[in-house]
Amino acid sequence: MRGDPSSTPERTPFRGDVVRTPAFVEDAVNLILGEAAKACRARGEFRLSLCGGGTPKQIYKRLATLPDMPWDKTLITFGDERCVPPEHERSNYRMAMESFLKAVPIPAERILRMEGERPPAEAARHYEEQLKAQAARTDEAIFTHDLILLGMGDDGHTASLFPGTTALEERERWVVANEVAKFEEHRITFTYPLINAARHVCFLITGENKRPVYERIFAGGQEDPAARVSPVNGRLTWMIG
Ligand code: 6PG
Repeated sequence: MRGDPSSTPERTPFRGDVVRTPAFVEDAVNLILGEAAKACRARGEFRLSLCGGGTPKQIYKRLATLPDMPWDKTLITFGDERCVPPEHERSNYRMAMESFLKAVPIPAERILRMEGERPPAEAARHYEEQLKAQAARTDEAIFTHDLILLGMGDDGHTASLFPGTTALEERERWVVANEVAKFEEHRITFTYPLINAARHVCFLITGENKRPVYERIFAGGQEDPAARVSPVNGRLTWMIG
């Protein structure tokens, strides 16, 4: 059945499905397709948030080849962005554009780019205002994504919610600027309130270096930022390639 992974999800002490799969790209693409079909049936729109980094590139490239993605009904957001211009090699927007967005028939106005070239706090506020305007149109208390894709670093960060940073404590704002001392830079990032409002959150994880982190999360550990992703009413999937 479309949307179901090829491997049976494990049940673990934490509230989520863990799918360890050799068919990582195929299973991730199927999950995205399944959520897109479900969202379009229910609400006529598919709200998909993209993560950055290296892992999702292979999945995004595969997405660009699919004939039955409802691109005209898809709204793309970004879970975080580096504070660089869109053409910069470190830009998550640039990575997504090059991996698939430039090759699919999605209307430009349905790609909500985080403006990394602006002062971080200003860019975060502007992005949040865009999401609030969308939410107001559909009378939502908080903008609800159909699917948020997230990665995780081997320090347990997700989006740009890094250990020891102030954004981890944000309970009201949806999007903030976050000072990341380890990189001596700011990032723009979704907060837990926005992430945990999603109908489905899916972590896409590759790399043996991350195993100690996700295994302690699956065992119930809460010290890592990624561990505090727990959708209030939605599904949580950890897809491990
Ligand atoms: C970013 C991402 C970040 C990423 C992780 C994992 O802007 O870098 O949003 O959270 O998902 O660092 O990156 P890899 O997939 O490259 O390991």
